[in-house]
Amino acid sequence: MPYGDVGLELGRRVAAALKAAMDVDSTPAQALVRPSARADYQCDVAMSLGKRLGRPPREVAAGIVAALDSADLLESAEVAGPGFVNLILRRSWLEDRAAALLGDERLGVARTERPRRFAVDYGGPNVAKEMHVGHLRSSIIGDAIVRMLRFSGHEVIPHNHLGDWGTPFGMLIEHLVDEGAHGGHGISDLSGFYREAREKFDADPGFADRARRRVVLLQGGDEPTLALWRQLVDESARHFDQVFTLLGIGLTAADAYGESFYNPYLAEVLDELEAKGLTETSDGAVCVFPPGFRNRDGDRLPLIVRKSDGGYGYAATDLATIRYWTRERGVTDLRYVVGNPQAQHFAMIFAAARQAGWLTADHHAEHVGFGSVLGADGRTIRTRAGGSVKLVELLTEAVDRAAAVVAERGELSEDERAAVARAVGIGAVKYADLSGDREKDYTFAWDRMLACEGNTAGYLQYAHARIRSLLRKAGETPGPGTPVVLAEPAERALLLKILQLPAACAAATESLAPHRLCGYLYEVATTFSGFYENCPILAPATPGEIRRSRLALAELTARVLTLGLALLGIEAPERL
Ligand code: ARG
Repeated sequence: MPYGDVGLELGRRVAAALKAAMDVDSTPAQALVRPSARADYQCDVAMSLGKRLGRPPREVAAGIVAALDSADLLESAEVAGPGFVNLILRRSWLEDRAAALLGDERLGVARTERPRRFAVDYGGPNVAKEMHVGHLRSSIIGDAIVRMLRFSGHEVIPHNHLGDWGTPFGMLIEHLVDEGAHGGHGISDLSGFYREAREKFDADPGFADRARRRVVLLQGGDEPTLALWRQLVDESARHFDQVFTLLGIGLTAADAYGESFYNPYLAEVLDELEAKGLTETSDGAVCVFPPGFRNRDGDRLPLIVRKSDGGYGYAATDLATIRYWTRERGVTDLRYVVGNPQAQHFAMIFAAARQAGWLTADHHAEHVGFGSVLGADGRTIRTRAGGSVKLVELLTEAVDRAAAVVAERGELSEDERAAVARAVGIGAVKYADLSGDREKDYTFAWDRMLACEGNTAGYLQYAHARIRSLLRKAGETPGPGTPVVLAEPAERALLLKILQLPAACAAATESLAPHRLCGYLYEVATTFSGFYENCPILAPATPGEIRRSRLALAELTARVLTLGLALLGIEAPERL
Protein backbone atom coordinates (compact mmCIF):
# COMPACT_ATOMS: atom_id res chain seq x y z
CA MET A 1 0.00 0.00 0.00
CA PRO A 2 2.09 2.95 -1.14
CA TYR A 3 -0.40 5.77 -0.56
CA GLY A 4 -3.93 6.48 0.51
CA ASP A 5 -5.60 6.94 3.84
CA VAL A 6 -4.18 4.96 6.77
CA GLY A 7 -7.56 4.75 8.50
CA LEU A 8 -9.09 3.31 5.36
CA GLU A 9 -6.25 0.82 4.94
CA LEU A 10 -6.78 -0.32 8.51
CA GLY A 11 -10.49 -0.46 7.71
CA ARG A 12 -9.70 -2.81 4.84
CA ARG A 13 -7.76 -5.09 7.19
CA VAL A 14 -10.56 -5.08 9.75
CA ALA A 15 -13.14 -5.78 7.05
CA ALA A 16 -11.07 -8.76 5.92
CA ALA A 17 -10.83 -9.97 9.52
CA LEU A 18 -14.59 -9.67 9.94
CA LYS A 19 -15.12 -11.74 6.83
CA ALA A 20 -12.61 -14.40 7.87
CA ALA A 21 -13.62 -14.63 11.52
CA MET A 22 -17.40 -14.28 11.36
CA ASP A 23 -18.35 -14.17 7.70
CA VAL A 24 -19.56 -10.57 7.99
CA ASP A 25 -19.43 -8.45 4.83
CA SER A 26 -18.39 -4.84 5.31
CA THR A 27 -16.61 -2.04 3.50
CA PRO A 28 -13.46 -0.43 4.89
CA ALA A 29 -15.53 2.63 5.87
CA GLN A 30 -18.06 0.46 7.69
CA ALA A 31 -15.24 -0.98 9.77
CA LEU A 32 -15.27 2.34 11.67
CA VAL A 33 -11.56 2.88 12.15
CA ARG A 34 -10.75 6.40 13.33
CA PRO A 35 -7.80 8.32 14.73
CA SER A 36 -7.89 8.17 18.49
CA ALA A 37 -6.32 9.86 21.47
CA ARG A 38 -5.95 6.52 23.27
CA ALA A 39 -4.16 4.72 20.47
CA ASP A 40 -3.08 5.71 16.97
CA TYR A 41 -6.36 4.47 15.57
CA GLN A 42 -9.38 2.86 17.15
CA CYS A 43 -11.92 0.49 15.63
CA ASP A 44 -15.47 0.85 17.03
CA VAL A 45 -17.31 -1.64 14.85
CA ALA A 46 -17.65 -4.33 17.53
CA MET A 47 -20.29 -2.32 19.46
CA SER A 48 -22.89 -2.12 16.73
CA LEU A 49 -21.92 -5.46 15.25
CA GLY A 50 -22.18 -7.20 18.63
CA LYS A 51 -25.72 -5.96 18.93
CA ARG A 52 -26.54 -7.12 15.41
CA LEU A 53 -25.00 -10.57 15.90
CA GLY A 54 -26.31 -10.95 19.45
CA ARG A 55 -22.79 -11.42 20.82
CA PRO A 56 -20.89 -9.49 23.49
CA PRO A 57 -18.94 -6.66 21.79
CA ARG A 58 -15.71 -7.62 23.58
CA GLU A 59 -15.97 -11.10 22.10
CA VAL A 60 -16.48 -9.65 18.61
CA ALA A 61 -13.52 -7.34 19.20
CA ALA A 62 -11.37 -10.29 20.29
CA GLY A 63 -12.44 -12.12 17.13
CA ILE A 64 -11.28 -9.18 15.03
CA VAL A 65 -7.93 -9.01 16.80
CA ALA A 66 -7.35 -12.74 16.38
CA ALA A 67 -8.09 -12.66 12.64
CA LEU A 68 -6.35 -9.38 11.86
CA ASP A 69 -3.63 -9.79 9.27
CA SER A 70 -1.62 -6.63 9.74
CA ALA A 71 1.78 -7.51 11.16
CA ASP A 72 3.36 -5.39 8.42
CA LEU A 73 1.90 -2.15 9.70
CA LEU A 74 0.67 -2.74 13.25
CA GLU A 75 2.69 -2.93 16.40
CA SER A 76 -0.30 -4.08 18.40
CA ALA A 77 -4.07 -4.51 18.31
CA GLU A 78 -5.81 -4.77 21.66
CA VAL A 79 -9.33 -5.01 22.93
CA ALA A 80 -10.14 -2.13 25.26
CA GLY A 81 -13.11 -0.97 27.31
CA PRO A 82 -16.54 -2.26 26.28
CA GLY A 83 -15.26 -3.56 22.94
CA PHE A 84 -12.96 -1.06 21.23
CA VAL A 85 -9.95 -2.28 19.33
CA ASN A 86 -6.93 -0.04 19.90
CA LEU A 87 -4.52 -0.05 17.02
CA ILE A 88 -0.89 1.05 17.37
CA LEU A 89 1.10 1.45 14.18
CA ARG A 90 4.62 0.12 13.85
CA ARG A 91 7.20 2.81 14.28
CA SER A 92 9.30 1.51 11.41
CA TRP A 93 6.26 1.49 9.15
CA LEU A 94 5.51 5.10 10.02
CA GLU A 95 9.12 6.09 9.45
CA ASP A 96 9.20 4.46 6.01
CA ARG A 97 5.97 6.11 5.20
CA ALA A 98 7.29 9.56 6.12
CA ALA A 99 10.35 9.07 3.94
CA ALA A 100 8.12 8.04 1.03
CA LEU A 101 5.79 11.03 1.51
CA LEU A 102 8.71 13.37 0.93
CA GLY A 103 8.76 12.16 -2.66
CA ASP A 104 5.02 12.39 -3.20
CA GLU A 105 3.60 15.62 -4.55
CA ARG A 106 0.10 14.56 -3.54
CA LEU A 107 1.20 13.86 0.03
CA GLY A 108 -0.56 10.53 0.12
CA VAL A 109 -3.89 11.67 -1.28
CA ALA A 110 -5.09 9.09 -3.79
CA ARG A 111 -7.05 10.01 -6.90
CA THR A 112 -10.66 8.87 -7.05
CA GLU A 113 -11.24 5.47 -8.60
CA ARG A 114 -14.49 6.71 -10.12
CA PRO A 115 -13.83 10.02 -11.86
CA ARG A 116 -16.97 11.90 -12.89
CA ARG A 117 -17.69 14.97 -14.96
CA PHE A 118 -18.95 17.83 -12.82
CA ALA A 119 -20.52 21.11 -13.85
CA VAL A 120 -20.22 23.54 -10.95
CA ASP A 121 -22.45 26.61 -11.10
CA TYR A 122 -20.99 29.41 -9.01
CA GLY A 123 -20.51 33.16 -8.93
CA GLY A 124 -23.80 34.06 -10.56
CA PRO A 125 -23.73 37.86 -10.34
CA ASN A 126 -26.25 39.96 -12.22
CA VAL A 127 -25.40 42.23 -15.13
CA ALA A 128 -25.78 45.96 -14.54
CA LYS A 129 -25.64 45.41 -10.82
CA GLU A 130 -22.54 45.50 -8.68
CA MET A 131 -21.53 42.17 -7.23
CA HIS A 132 -22.35 42.13 -3.55
CA VAL A 133 -21.40 40.01 -0.55
CA GLY A 134 -24.14 37.54 -1.44
CA HIS A 135 -22.08 36.65 -4.52
CA LEU A 136 -18.89 36.64 -2.51
CA ARG A 137 -19.77 33.42 -0.70
CA SER A 138 -20.82 31.68 -3.89
CA SER A 139 -17.53 32.66 -5.55
CA ILE A 140 -15.31 31.66 -2.62
CA ILE A 141 -17.08 28.40 -1.77
CA GLY A 142 -17.57 27.47 -5.42
CA ASP A 143 -13.92 28.03 -6.22
CA ALA A 144 -12.78 25.88 -3.29
CA ILE A 145 -15.15 23.11 -4.33
CA VAL A 146 -13.87 23.19 -7.90
CA ARG A 147 -10.29 22.93 -6.65
CA MET A 148 -11.08 20.06 -4.29
CA LEU A 149 -12.99 18.06 -6.89
CA ARG A 150 -10.24 18.54 -9.46
CA PHE A 151 -7.58 17.47 -7.00
CA SER A 152 -9.59 14.29 -6.37
CA GLY A 153 -9.25 13.56 -10.06
CA HIS A 154 -12.69 14.56 -11.30
CA GLU A 155 -13.24 16.57 -14.44
CA VAL A 156 -14.81 19.88 -13.49
CA ILE A 157 -16.42 22.48 -15.72
CA PRO A 158 -17.09 25.69 -13.82
CA HIS A 159 -19.82 27.92 -15.16
CA ASN A 160 -21.02 31.31 -14.17
CA HIS A 161 -24.81 31.63 -14.46
CA LEU A 162 -24.81 35.39 -15.01
CA GLY A 163 -28.12 37.18 -14.70
CA ASP A 164 -27.82 38.76 -18.14
CA TRP A 165 -31.30 38.37 -19.61
CA GLY A 166 -34.93 39.04 -18.90
CA THR A 167 -37.31 41.91 -18.29
CA PRO A 168 -34.97 44.33 -16.42
CA PHE A 169 -32.98 44.71 -19.63
CA GLY A 170 -35.89 46.50 -21.27
CA MET A 171 -35.59 49.43 -18.88
CA LEU A 172 -31.80 49.28 -18.77
CA ILE A 173 -31.49 49.48 -22.55
CA GLU A 174 -34.03 52.32 -22.81
CA HIS A 175 -32.15 54.19 -20.12
CA LEU A 176 -28.91 53.63 -22.01
CA VAL A 177 -30.56 55.05 -25.16
CA ASP A 178 -31.70 58.15 -23.21
CA GLU A 179 -28.32 58.63 -21.59
CA GLY A 180 -26.59 58.37 -24.95
CA ALA A 181 -28.94 61.01 -26.40
CA HIS A 182 -28.35 63.36 -23.47
CA GLY A 183 -24.62 62.78 -23.01
CA GLY A 184 -25.23 61.21 -19.60
CA HIS A 185 -22.57 59.61 -17.45
CA GLY A 186 -23.01 56.15 -18.97
CA ILE A 187 -22.72 52.87 -17.19
CA SER A 188 -19.43 53.07 -15.30
CA ASP A 189 -21.46 53.25 -12.08
CA LEU A 190 -23.58 50.21 -12.76
CA SER A 191 -25.69 50.14 -9.62
CA GLY A 192 -26.40 53.84 -9.94
CA PHE A 193 -27.41 53.22 -13.54
CA TYR A 194 -29.72 50.40 -12.50
CA ARG A 195 -31.32 52.54 -9.78
CA GLU A 196 -31.99 55.42 -12.17
CA ALA A 197 -33.58 53.09 -14.71
CA ARG A 198 -35.74 51.55 -12.01
CA GLU A 199 -36.88 54.99 -10.76
CA LYS A 200 -37.77 56.13 -14.27
CA PHE A 201 -39.62 52.88 -14.88
CA ASP A 202 -41.74 53.38 -11.76
CA ALA A 203 -42.39 57.09 -12.32
CA ASP A 204 -42.84 57.43 -16.07
CA PRO A 205 -45.48 55.27 -17.79
CA GLY A 206 -44.20 56.28 -21.23
CA PHE A 207 -40.74 54.99 -20.31
CA ALA A 208 -42.23 51.82 -18.86
CA ASP A 209 -44.03 51.22 -22.15
CA ARG A 210 -40.86 51.67 -24.16
CA ALA A 211 -39.07 49.34 -21.76
CA ARG A 212 -41.65 46.61 -22.32
CA ARG A 213 -41.46 46.95 -26.08
CA ARG A 214 -37.67 46.79 -25.79
CA VAL A 215 -37.86 43.43 -24.01
CA VAL A 216 -39.82 42.05 -26.96
CA LEU A 217 -37.19 43.39 -29.36
CA LEU A 218 -34.40 41.90 -27.27
CA GLN A 219 -36.00 38.47 -27.09
CA GLY A 220 -36.76 38.63 -30.80
CA GLY A 221 -33.07 39.11 -31.55
CA ASP A 222 -33.28 42.69 -32.91
CA GLU A 223 -29.68 43.56 -33.84
CA PRO A 224 -29.49 47.21 -32.65
CA THR A 225 -31.09 46.17 -29.37
CA LEU A 226 -28.60 43.32 -28.95
CA ALA A 227 -25.74 45.76 -29.56
CA LEU A 228 -26.96 47.95 -26.69
CA TRP A 229 -27.46 44.90 -24.50
CA ARG A 230 -23.90 43.78 -25.24
CA GLN A 231 -22.57 47.15 -24.05
CA LEU A 232 -24.19 46.54 -20.70
CA VAL A 233 -22.96 42.94 -20.50
CA ASP A 234 -19.40 43.88 -21.46
CA GLU A 235 -19.21 46.68 -18.92
CA SER A 236 -20.43 44.30 -16.22
CA ALA A 237 -18.01 41.61 -17.32
CA ARG A 238 -15.16 44.04 -16.78
CA HIS A 239 -16.39 44.71 -13.27
CA PHE A 240 -16.79 41.00 -12.46
CA ASP A 241 -13.35 40.26 -13.88
CA GLN A 242 -11.84 42.85 -11.58
CA VAL A 243 -13.43 41.20 -8.55
CA PHE A 244 -12.53 37.64 -9.58
CA THR A 245 -8.94 38.66 -10.28
CA LEU A 246 -8.63 40.43 -6.94
CA LEU A 247 -10.06 37.34 -5.26
CA GLY A 248 -7.90 34.91 -7.20
CA ILE A 249 -11.02 33.08 -8.35
CA GLY A 250 -10.60 30.97 -11.44
CA LEU A 251 -13.74 32.15 -13.27
CA THR A 252 -13.03 33.82 -16.62
CA ALA A 253 -15.04 35.16 -19.52
CA ALA A 254 -14.86 31.68 -21.04
CA ASP A 255 -16.80 30.28 -18.10
CA ALA A 256 -19.68 32.72 -18.52
CA TYR A 257 -22.80 30.79 -19.39
CA GLY A 258 -25.31 33.51 -18.60
CA GLU A 259 -29.05 33.17 -18.74
CA SER A 260 -28.89 34.54 -22.31
CA PHE A 261 -26.85 31.53 -23.37
CA TYR A 262 -29.84 29.26 -22.80
CA ASN A 263 -32.28 31.50 -24.66
CA PRO A 264 -32.10 29.48 -27.90
CA TYR A 265 -33.03 26.31 -26.00
CA LEU A 266 -36.08 27.59 -24.13
CA ALA A 267 -38.67 26.81 -26.80
CA GLU A 268 -37.30 23.25 -27.16
CA VAL A 269 -37.46 22.81 -23.41
CA LEU A 270 -41.11 23.84 -23.45
CA ASP A 271 -41.88 21.57 -26.41
CA GLU A 272 -40.25 18.60 -24.76
CA LEU A 273 -42.04 19.15 -21.46
CA GLU A 274 -45.34 19.48 -23.34
CA ALA A 275 -44.68 16.38 -25.44
CA LYS A 276 -44.00 14.42 -22.28
CA GLY A 277 -47.32 15.58 -20.87
CA LEU A 278 -45.74 17.35 -17.93
CA THR A 279 -47.22 20.81 -18.45
CA GLU A 280 -50.49 22.41 -17.40
CA THR A 281 -51.79 25.85 -18.26
CA SER A 282 -52.65 27.96 -15.26
CA ASP A 283 -53.88 31.57 -15.64
CA GLY A 284 -52.41 31.65 -19.12
CA ALA A 285 -48.97 30.51 -17.93
CA VAL A 286 -47.49 27.15 -18.87
CA CYS A 287 -46.42 25.39 -15.68
CA VAL A 288 -44.95 22.15 -14.42
CA PHE A 289 -46.13 20.95 -11.03
CA PRO A 290 -43.37 18.69 -9.72
CA PRO A 291 -44.84 16.17 -7.29
CA GLY A 292 -44.43 16.76 -3.58
CA PHE A 293 -44.29 20.56 -3.53
CA ARG A 294 -47.18 22.34 -1.85
CA ASN A 295 -47.70 25.60 -0.04
CA ARG A 296 -49.09 25.89 3.50
CA ASP A 297 -52.66 25.67 2.23
CA GLY A 298 -51.86 22.41 0.52
CA ASP A 299 -51.97 23.85 -3.01
CA ARG A 300 -49.52 22.45 -5.51
CA LEU A 301 -46.60 24.76 -6.30
CA PRO A 302 -45.89 25.60 -9.95
CA LEU A 303 -42.65 26.05 -11.82
CA ILE A 304 -43.55 28.65 -14.42
CA VAL A 305 -42.03 27.59 -17.72
CA ARG A 306 -43.62 30.26 -19.91
CA LYS A 307 -45.37 33.30 -18.51
CA SER A 308 -48.76 34.42 -19.73
CA ASP A 309 -47.10 37.22 -21.77
CA GLY A 310 -45.11 34.57 -23.65
CA GLY A 311 -41.79 35.32 -21.90
CA TYR A 312 -39.58 32.77 -20.21
CA GLY A 313 -38.17 33.30 -16.72
CA TYR A 314 -35.63 32.06 -14.20
CA ALA A 315 -37.15 28.58 -13.83
CA ALA A 316 -37.31 27.88 -17.56
CA THR A 317 -33.67 28.90 -17.88
CA ASP A 318 -32.63 26.58 -15.07
CA LEU A 319 -34.49 23.67 -16.68
CA ALA A 320 -32.69 24.44 -19.94
CA THR A 321 -29.41 24.52 -18.00
CA ILE A 322 -29.81 20.97 -16.74
CA ARG A 323 -30.86 19.72 -20.14
CA TYR A 324 -27.88 21.44 -21.78
CA TRP A 325 -25.18 20.21 -19.40
CA THR A 326 -26.38 16.63 -19.20
CA ARG A 327 -27.31 16.20 -22.86
CA GLU A 328 -24.89 18.38 -24.78
CA ARG A 329 -21.91 18.29 -22.46
CA GLY A 330 -22.13 14.78 -21.03
CA VAL A 331 -22.01 16.04 -17.46
CA THR A 332 -22.78 13.41 -14.80
CA ASP A 333 -22.95 15.68 -11.78
CA LEU A 334 -24.38 19.18 -11.41
CA ARG A 335 -23.60 21.31 -8.37
CA TYR A 336 -25.13 24.71 -7.68
CA VAL A 337 -23.36 26.95 -5.20
CA VAL A 338 -26.20 29.33 -4.46
CA GLY A 339 -27.60 30.81 -1.24
CA ASN A 340 -30.03 28.88 0.95
CA PRO A 341 -33.07 31.00 0.00
CA GLN A 342 -33.06 29.28 -3.40
CA ALA A 343 -33.21 25.77 -1.91
CA GLN A 344 -36.83 25.21 -2.85
CA HIS A 345 -36.32 26.57 -6.35
CA PHE A 346 -33.58 24.01 -6.99
CA ALA A 347 -35.46 21.15 -5.35
CA MET A 348 -38.37 21.84 -7.72
CA ILE A 349 -36.11 22.22 -10.76
CA PHE A 350 -34.40 18.89 -10.01
CA ALA A 351 -37.74 17.15 -9.49
CA ALA A 352 -39.07 18.47 -12.80
CA ALA A 353 -35.82 17.53 -14.56
CA ARG A 354 -36.14 13.98 -13.26
CA GLN A 355 -39.69 13.84 -14.58
CA ALA A 356 -38.43 15.05 -17.94
CA GLY A 357 -35.68 12.43 -17.95
CA TRP A 358 -32.83 14.99 -18.00
CA LEU A 359 -31.70 13.77 -14.62
CA THR A 360 -31.45 10.00 -14.35
CA ALA A 361 -30.12 7.45 -11.89
CA ASP A 362 -26.63 8.25 -13.14
CA HIS A 363 -27.05 12.02 -13.20
CA HIS A 364 -26.87 13.68 -9.89
CA ALA A 365 -27.81 17.30 -9.16
CA GLU A 366 -27.28 18.96 -5.84
CA HIS A 367 -27.86 22.42 -4.46
CA VAL A 368 -24.81 23.42 -2.43
CA GLY A 369 -26.48 26.01 -0.22
CA PHE A 370 -24.95 28.56 2.11
CA GLY A 371 -26.12 31.06 4.72
CA SER A 372 -25.98 34.85 4.73
CA VAL A 373 -23.14 37.13 5.68
CA LEU A 374 -24.07 39.01 8.85
CA GLY A 375 -22.65 42.25 10.25
CA ALA A 376 -21.59 42.74 13.85
CA ASP A 377 -25.20 43.64 14.66
CA GLY A 378 -26.31 40.16 13.62
CA ARG A 379 -28.18 41.45 10.56
CA THR A 380 -27.42 40.90 6.90
CA ILE A 381 -24.37 43.02 6.15
CA ARG A 382 -25.03 46.58 4.88
CA THR A 383 -23.10 49.78 4.48
CA ARG A 384 -24.01 52.80 6.57
CA ALA A 385 -26.06 54.19 3.68
CA GLY A 386 -28.19 51.07 3.84
CA GLY A 387 -27.15 49.55 0.51
CA SER A 388 -25.37 46.21 0.16
CA VAL A 389 -21.66 46.41 0.77
CA LYS A 390 -19.82 46.59 -2.53
CA LEU A 391 -17.49 43.73 -3.04
CA VAL A 392 -14.56 45.63 -4.48
CA GLU A 393 -14.60 48.03 -1.54
CA LEU A 394 -14.75 45.23 0.94
CA LEU A 395 -11.86 43.34 -0.63
CA THR A 396 -9.76 46.47 -1.01
CA GLU A 397 -10.32 47.18 2.64
CA ALA A 398 -9.19 43.64 3.53
CA VAL A 399 -5.94 44.10 1.62
CA ASP A 400 -5.39 47.59 3.12
CA ARG A 401 -5.89 46.28 6.63
CA ALA A 402 -3.51 43.40 5.98
CA ALA A 403 -0.98 45.84 4.50
CA ALA A 404 -1.01 47.81 7.75
CA VAL A 405 0.01 44.65 9.59
CA VAL A 406 2.59 43.58 7.03
CA ALA A 407 4.16 47.08 6.95
CA GLU A 408 5.76 46.31 10.30
CA ARG A 409 7.83 43.52 8.76
CA GLY A 410 10.99 45.35 7.83
CA GLU A 411 12.72 42.49 6.03
CA LEU A 412 10.30 42.43 3.09
CA SER A 413 10.76 44.49 -0.07
CA GLU A 414 8.05 46.88 -1.24
CA ASP A 415 6.81 44.42 -3.90
CA GLU A 416 6.88 41.49 -1.51
CA ARG A 417 4.88 43.46 1.00
CA ALA A 418 2.17 44.21 -1.56
CA ALA A 419 1.94 40.58 -2.61
CA VAL A 420 1.89 39.39 0.98
CA ALA A 421 -0.77 41.94 1.95
CA ARG A 422 -2.92 40.65 -0.86
CA ALA A 423 -2.39 37.02 0.13
CA VAL A 424 -3.11 37.76 3.78
CA GLY A 425 -6.07 40.10 3.23
CA ILE A 426 -7.84 38.01 0.62
CA GLY A 427 -6.88 34.83 2.45
CA ALA A 428 -8.50 36.18 5.62
CA VAL A 429 -11.78 36.94 3.86
CA LYS A 430 -11.85 33.57 2.13
CA TYR A 431 -10.87 31.53 5.17
CA ALA A 432 -13.42 33.26 7.40
CA ASP A 433 -16.04 32.20 4.89
CA LEU A 434 -14.76 28.67 4.37
CA SER A 435 -13.90 27.69 7.94
CA GLY A 436 -17.49 27.60 9.16
CA ASP A 437 -20.19 25.17 8.11
CA ARG A 438 -21.37 26.75 4.86
CA GLU A 439 -25.04 26.08 5.59
CA LYS A 440 -24.91 28.52 8.49
CA ASP A 441 -24.84 32.32 8.43
CA TYR A 442 -21.48 33.80 9.28
CA THR A 443 -20.59 37.02 10.97
CA PHE A 444 -18.18 39.27 9.17
CA ALA A 445 -15.70 40.68 11.72
CA TRP A 446 -12.40 42.20 10.58
CA ASP A 447 -10.56 41.65 13.84
CA ARG A 448 -11.29 37.97 14.08
CA MET A 449 -10.70 37.43 10.39
CA LEU A 450 -7.28 39.09 10.36
CA ALA A 451 -6.12 37.65 13.68
CA CYS A 452 -2.94 35.58 13.68
CA GLU A 453 -4.27 33.25 16.35
CA GLY A 454 -7.05 30.72 16.35
CA ASN A 455 -8.52 28.99 13.33
CA THR A 456 -7.70 31.77 10.83
CA ALA A 457 -5.85 32.06 7.55
CA GLY A 458 -3.27 34.28 9.26
CA TYR A 459 -2.41 31.61 11.81
CA LEU A 460 -1.91 28.98 9.10
CA GLN A 461 0.00 31.32 6.81
CA TYR A 462 2.19 32.38 9.68
CA ALA A 463 2.84 28.79 10.77
CA HIS A 464 3.81 27.97 7.20
CA ALA A 465 6.10 30.98 6.80
CA ARG A 466 7.78 30.19 10.11
CA ILE A 467 8.60 26.67 8.91
CA ARG A 468 9.92 28.02 5.61
CA SER A 469 12.14 30.42 7.48
CA LEU A 470 13.38 27.58 9.66
CA LEU A 471 14.27 25.53 6.57
CA ARG A 472 16.06 28.51 5.04
CA LYS A 473 18.03 28.96 8.22
CA ALA A 474 18.90 25.28 8.28
CA GLY A 475 20.25 25.65 4.77
CA GLU A 476 18.87 22.29 3.63
CA THR A 477 15.61 20.98 2.28
CA PRO A 478 15.06 17.33 3.13
CA GLY A 479 14.44 15.45 -0.11
CA PRO A 480 12.68 12.17 -0.90
CA GLY A 481 13.99 9.28 1.14
CA THR A 482 15.46 11.35 3.97
CA PRO A 483 15.41 8.94 6.93
CA VAL A 484 12.81 9.95 9.49
CA VAL A 485 13.19 8.94 13.12
CA LEU A 486 10.15 8.95 15.36
CA ALA A 487 11.67 8.74 18.82
CA GLU A 488 9.67 11.45 20.61
CA PRO A 489 5.88 11.35 21.11
CA ALA A 490 5.60 14.83 19.55
CA GLU A 491 7.33 13.59 16.40
CA ARG A 492 5.01 10.65 16.15
CA ALA A 493 1.95 12.81 16.82
CA LEU A 494 2.95 15.20 14.04
CA LEU A 495 3.47 12.46 11.50
CA LEU A 496 0.16 10.82 12.43
CA LYS A 497 -1.53 14.18 11.86
CA ILE A 498 0.19 14.60 8.50
CA LEU A 499 -1.01 11.14 7.51
CA GLN A 500 -4.60 12.25 8.06
CA LEU A 501 -4.52 14.58 5.06
CA PRO A 502 -6.16 12.03 2.71
CA ALA A 503 -9.01 11.50 5.19
CA ALA A 504 -9.51 15.26 5.61
CA CYS A 505 -9.57 15.78 1.84
CA ALA A 506 -12.04 12.94 1.41
CA ALA A 507 -14.35 14.26 4.13
CA ALA A 508 -14.28 17.80 2.73
CA THR A 509 -14.73 16.71 -0.88
CA GLU A 510 -17.41 14.09 -0.36
CA SER A 511 -19.72 16.45 1.49
CA LEU A 512 -18.50 19.58 -0.30
CA ALA A 513 -17.61 20.96 3.11
CA PRO A 514 -14.40 23.00 2.94
CA HIS A 515 -14.62 23.70 6.68
CA ARG A 516 -13.53 20.13 7.34
CA LEU A 517 -10.28 20.76 5.53
CA CYS A 518 -9.88 24.04 7.47
CA GLY A 519 -10.37 22.26 10.79
CA TYR A 520 -7.76 19.70 9.82
CA LEU A 521 -5.21 22.31 8.74
CA TYR A 522 -5.67 24.07 12.04
CA GLU A 523 -4.93 20.81 13.86
CA VAL A 524 -1.82 20.35 11.73
CA ALA A 525 -0.57 23.81 12.68
CA THR A 526 -1.25 23.35 16.40
CA THR A 527 0.30 19.88 16.39
CA PHE A 528 3.33 21.35 14.71
CA SER A 529 3.67 23.99 17.38
CA GLY A 530 3.66 21.25 20.05
CA PHE A 531 6.38 19.46 18.12
CA TYR A 532 8.39 22.64 17.70
CA GLU A 533 8.30 23.34 21.43
CA ASN A 534 9.36 19.85 22.42
CA CYS A 535 11.80 18.93 19.71
CA PRO A 536 14.72 21.32 19.18
CA ILE A 537 15.84 21.34 15.58
CA LEU A 538 18.64 23.81 14.98
CA ALA A 539 20.05 23.69 18.52
CA PRO A 540 23.76 22.66 18.39
CA ALA A 541 23.06 19.76 20.77
CA THR A 542 20.68 18.09 18.29
CA PRO A 543 22.46 15.21 16.50
CA GLY A 544 22.67 15.56 12.72
CA GLU A 545 20.44 12.58 12.00
CA ILE A 546 17.69 13.87 14.32
CA ARG A 547 18.00 17.36 12.93
CA ARG A 548 17.50 16.09 9.39
CA SER A 549 14.56 13.96 10.45
CA ARG A 550 12.91 16.89 12.21
CA LEU A 551 13.54 19.13 9.23
CA ALA A 552 11.84 16.48 7.12
CA LEU A 553 8.78 16.56 9.40
CA ALA A 554 8.79 20.36 9.20
CA GLU A 555 9.03 20.20 5.43
CA LEU A 556 6.09 17.79 5.25
CA THR A 557 4.06 20.06 7.52
CA ALA A 558 4.78 23.08 5.33
CA ARG A 559 3.73 21.13 2.26
CA VAL A 560 0.51 19.96 3.86
CA LEU A 561 -0.33 23.55 4.78
CA THR A 562 0.51 24.84 1.30
CA LEU A 563 -1.48 22.13 -0.42
CA GLY A 564 -4.45 22.44 1.92
CA LEU A 565 -4.58 26.21 1.59
CA ALA A 566 -4.22 25.92 -2.20
CA LEU A 567 -7.26 23.63 -2.27
CA LEU A 568 -9.14 26.41 -0.50
CA GLY A 569 -7.84 28.98 -3.00
CA ILE A 570 -5.56 30.63 -0.43
CA GLU A 571 -1.90 31.48 -0.94
CA ALA A 572 0.83 30.52 1.48
CA PRO A 573 3.62 33.11 1.12
CA GLU A 574 7.18 31.96 1.82
CA ARG A 575 7.79 34.95 4.08
CA LEU A 576 5.42 36.96 6.19
N1 ARG B 1 -28.06 35.35 -10.59
C1 ARG B 1 -28.64 34.63 -9.50
C2 ARG B 1 -28.74 35.52 -8.27
O1 ARG B 1 -28.07 36.54 -8.17
C3 ARG B 1 -27.86 33.41 -9.13
C4 ARG B 1 -27.78 32.34 -10.21
C5 ARG B 1 -27.64 30.99 -9.61
N2 ARG B 1 -27.60 29.91 -10.59
C6 ARG B 1 -28.65 29.38 -11.18
N3 ARG B 1 -28.44 28.40 -12.03
N4 ARG B 1 -29.88 29.76 -10.93
O2 ARG B 1 -29.51 35.20 -7.39
